[in-house]
Amino acid sequence: MQVVITQSAEQVAKLGAKHCYDLINVNPAAVLGLATGSTPVALYGQLIDLYRRNLVSYCLIKSFNLDEYVGLVPTHPQSYRYFMNHHLFNHIDINLKNTFVPDGMTAPAQAGEQYEKAIANAGGIDLQILGVGRNGHIGFNEPSSSLSSRTRIKTLTAATVKDNNRFFATDEFQPELAITMGIGTILEAKKILLLATGKAKAKAVKHLVEGSLSASCPASALQLHNNTTVIIDQEAAELLEHKEYYKQVAITTEQMATENA
Ligand code: F6R
Repeated sequence: MQVVITQSAEQVAKLGAKHCYDLINVNPAAVLGLATGSTPVALYGQLIDLYRRNLVSYCLIKSFNLDEYVGLVPTHPQSYRYFMNHHLFNHIDINLKNTFVPDGMTAPAQAGEQYEKAIANAGGIDLQILGVGRNGHIGFNEPSSSLSSRTRIKTLTAATVKDNNRFFATDEFQPELAITMGIGTILEAKKILLLATGKAKAKAVKHLVEGSLSASCPASALQLHNNTTVIIDQEAAELLEHKEYYKQVAITTEQMATENA
């Protein structure tokens, strides 16, 4: 796991976008795994900017989102399909037919299997973008999720429902179930980028990077993945013990990349 500590949330988004750009340059038909929530919004802004500056085209890209609320139709403003269209897809040249979000309205027994098949048919995910919940969840794999889980329905914790309450109007129906890629599904991505910003994420970041491998912190499963980069700002890095080491590694990696360029 590589840990990159940047000066600001803006830098997190810029560096995340650079990873996407570098991949698409090499493989214009790459398969991206995408996340929703507040964290990746700035990254999506950077991806849109790259497109508007004619630096990149997404016309051959396929994408698979991590999760969707059960019971919300894709046109519902709080659905993750709506979120993706609004924050990214409507602003770039991606073919909407190549963008996949789990179906929150399909019969639960079939929904997971169909999604897993679609990912496999696309050749697997080349680059998976992740945020992390304050409780250490990735996708909607809440604490106690099996570390080898596959796409399925999960019950959201009260803490997650509360955290996401900010997106819903008072009295609006807020789902307490979601369909999410499993941790096993996520770990099959060839490369993973986890982004985290702000103090509220410091505890989850500490556990996922330096804590024990445990279902209590689903993101700690990324310690098992051999190509994961965690990009965080100073606040999210606050509780890390080995900050100086991560900074040293980042400098060395940069130097080696420049020498090999
Ligand atoms: C969203 C997702 C979640 C979020 C996490 C952090 O698709 O899978 O795991 O990444 O809840 O959300 P924010 O970024 O809103 O703090």
